[in-house]
Amino acid sequence: MKTCVLTGITTSGTPHLGNYVGAIRPAVQASLAPNTEAFFFLADYHALIKCEDPNRIARSRIEIAATWLAAGLDPNHVFFYRQSDIPEISELSWLLTCVTGKGLMNRAHAYKASVDANREKHTEEDDGITMGLFSYPILMAADILMFNAHQVPVGRDQLQHIEMTRDIAQRFNHLFGQGREFFVLPEALIQDDNAILQGLDGRKMSKSYNNTIPLFEGGEKALQSAVAKIVTDSKGPGEVKDAENSNLVPIFKAFATPEEIKAYMQNLEQGMSWGDAKKALCVQVESALSPLRGRYADLMAHPDDLEDILLTGAQRARERSAPFMAELRAAVGLRSFKSQSSTKTKVASTKHKAPRFVSYRDTDQQFRFRLLDQEGRELFVSRPHADPKHAGVIMRQLQQRTDDVTVKIESDTQFVVCIEEQCVGQSAAFVSIEQRDEVLQQTQAAIIAISTLSL
Ligand code: TRP
Repeated sequence: MKTCVLTGITTSGTPHLGNYVGAIRPAVQASLAPNTEAFFFLADYHALIKCEDPNRIARSRIEIAATWLAAGLDPNHVFFYRQSDIPEISELSWLLTCVTGKGLMNRAHAYKASVDANREKHTEEDDGITMGLFSYPILMAADILMFNAHQVPVGRDQLQHIEMTRDIAQRFNHLFGQGREFFVLPEALIQDDNAILQGLDGRKMSKSYNNTIPLFEGGEKALQSAVAKIVTDSKGPGEVKDAENSNLVPIFKAFATPEEIKAYMQNLEQGMSWGDAKKALCVQVESALSPLRGRYADLMAHPDDLEDILLTGAQRARERSAPFMAELRAAVGLRSFKSQSSTKTKVASTKHKAPRFVSYRDTDQQFRFRLLDQEGRELFVSRPHADPKHAGVIMRQLQQRTDDVTVKIESDTQFVVCIEEQCVGQSAAFVSIEQRDEVLQQTQAAIIAISTLSL
């Protein structure tokens, strides 16, 4: 089975050099690993929680989409989409909201920090706190669980959200899974703090510190003017510089080979002026970024193409989310009236038009039975039994203990039928997940229909 790696990018700002080095570049690289399936999405619903400026949201979505593609993300290889294009995510978010304790959300760091800030100001505790902020971790859980991600690369500040996701997933599995684990419990992949670039003042590069270097926006000029503002000590040309502790070297390091880094540090130690050092830094960063910058400008000039790429990504993602959501809806009881009422009337009226068991002796001399639907098509085959009486016992149990019967997904192409934990039958091998899910649902309906309890 492939490992599913998923991460979201909140669309409330313009990507800077720190985002590129700390998150975008490693994520694009990781997406190429064999045996992984990568999901990257624009967390634009999350952005609405932090930002009430529609123009900024709209602009940020385009900039971030163009940035990731310019950085080499291949939208045919990974799943690249906007959260708001997947309606199943908000649908799932509600199902999860209904199983999440309010107490769990009370403990969320981001919410508690806002409450603490209000207390300090002696205002009402929840002043200015929206339900969006309060429920933020549930929407994030829906992002992750919708695609059953195994690994979620995030910054350390997001660790608690992944832990909450696990709690919520476990609770849903327990309440509605009937032995089936609907949701995988995800692991956080914490991005190494060392990989996060320093900003102009030597602190972590962050919009909130106002110390960022732009990645693509503003072109080479913007890069140069930001680098000009990097804080240095007041040593003049010719004086020995403390290269290791300067604010220039960490940025240089992120874009250079070990030999280039060594030479740059030696030059500083031998008296290269800060002005020359900044020029050399710009040349180095620009040589890495300029091909990407060209692609970025091209993408930004063609927003229609970007729209198409993201809609195609959403369509691919929905091939997963839509059938899964259908199962989840059914699991909580949001089921079609049709399949329930029609199977019942059929059972009651025309006996022959109902699902039924057929037992037989196979070529291996073992006794088996099949469950057929009302049209006579096979839904599943039982396990082999040496004694026909045993086959009969299982058949009766399937009719009498409907509440203990579960139909579980075995693989992309097969499901199995269990009584409590014991597997008593299996489906044929299907050609697609969609076909598997269709027959799986028919089987669930047929099991209800054959139940002697429902008559
Ligand atoms: N909350 C994340 C952040 O601020 C963004 C995000 C939203 C996310 N949904 C996600 C990250 C799902 C990983 C998985 O960084």
